[in-house]
Amino acid sequence: MIDMTNSNEKWHIETLLAQAGNRTDDVKTGAISAPIYLSTAYRHAGLGQSTGFDYPREAQPTRGVLEATLAQMEHGVAAYALTSGMAAIQLVFTLFHSGDKIIISDDLYGGSYRFFDLLHDHYHLTFAVWDGQDQSELAALIDAHTVALWLETPSNPTMKLIDLKKTAATTHAHHIKLIVDNTFYTPLIQKPLDLGADIVVHSATKYLAGHNDILAGAVVAKNQADAKQLEFNLVTTGAVLDPFDAWLLLRSLKTLPLRLHQHETNAQALVKFLTANQYVERVLYPGRGGMISFYLATGTDVDQFLQALKVVSFAESLGGVESLVTVPAVQTHADLSPEQRAAKGITANLLRLSVGIENVVDLQADLQQALEKAQK
Ligand SMILES: Cc1ncc(COP(=O)(O)O)c(C=O)c1O
Repeated sequence: MIDMTNSNEKWHIETLLAQAGNRTDDVKTGAISAPIYLSTAYRHAGLGQSTGFDYPREAQPTRGVLEATLAQMEHGVAAYALTSGMAAIQLVFTLFHSGDKIIISDDLYGGSYRFFDLLHDHYHLTFAVWDGQDQSELAALIDAHTVALWLETPSNPTMKLIDLKKTAATTHAHHIKLIVDNTFYTPLIQKPLDLGADIVVHSATKYLAGHNDILAGAVVAKNQADAKQLEFNLVTTGAVLDPFDAWLLLRSLKTLPLRLHQHETNAQALVKFLTANQYVERVLYPGRGGMISFYLATGTDVDQFLQALKVVSFAESLGGVESLVTVPAVQTHADLSPEQRAAKGITANLLRLSVGIENVVDLQADLQQALEKAQK
């Protein structure tokens, strides 16, 4: 398989990522950047002989370097790179069976809800919702059919935090899996597997890729049994990431520590600015990372605000170097019923800001002028 022997467990994460892929091609060329292998066929020296690469749905050299790096980042035994975050989520659900019950936290990416509805309607999985706070309430939801708890922390878009250590203790005591969507914080801020989770998923489209130019997903397993089953199911179902995107994603990871530092520094400055702003009713920030949600004050027109922005773009994604603002009620969470949205605090004046790595002075000036123009 992929030789990552240059990576040393004692290295800091910045070193590990900057060096990712280096020395994987020592023998042939000494290339520092891991090569992109496009071949879909691999010559065998003879019967029963293989280089470890037979067919790219099973294993692919460029994707392999990426997957080894992802596993190291999250402290897992294996990682799988897929065509999107939703493909990653779908792969995890191939571990479950009709009739299984999954508990989910109450404030997830809207597309996850849409998928869980499909699983309920077509495949007879059942779901129960936990608000992420009280462990005894979680324990009370677990019954003989329950196989897993699925959660996001911080939550999307209301930025609630869930205590992963306490939650893992509850799921372990009841022998169910803990699965964490770690898209918002990334392993640089939070390593769910170290805190007791069994599986981590990512929309790698977001911070891991970081430039708003790759659609990708990742699954990382903590134990060999899950890894083996996930690998078998991925080879069977086939949504593996292609070599070009695998290479681009690997390249992006090299600068993740620098990017995330700037996202977070900018976000913390903007939290102060927005909290003190008369045109903003309330700011939601989980304390780390580059994601902020905020409610515009009464009298501030959402559409005028969005149209007045010159640096920040009104667009539906997050985690890239460019700042983006989203209106969850009509974008990421449009598929929820109005009642579900209201219960979660996803109102028409709630905005979600993915803070980029621009100079924060320009971001602040842009938000201020747009807020002023949006007054009715
Ligand atoms: C937290 C979270 N998980 C999963 C997804 C789905 O990922 P993708 O859009 O890469 O399929 C998203 C997408 O926005 C997300 O925000």
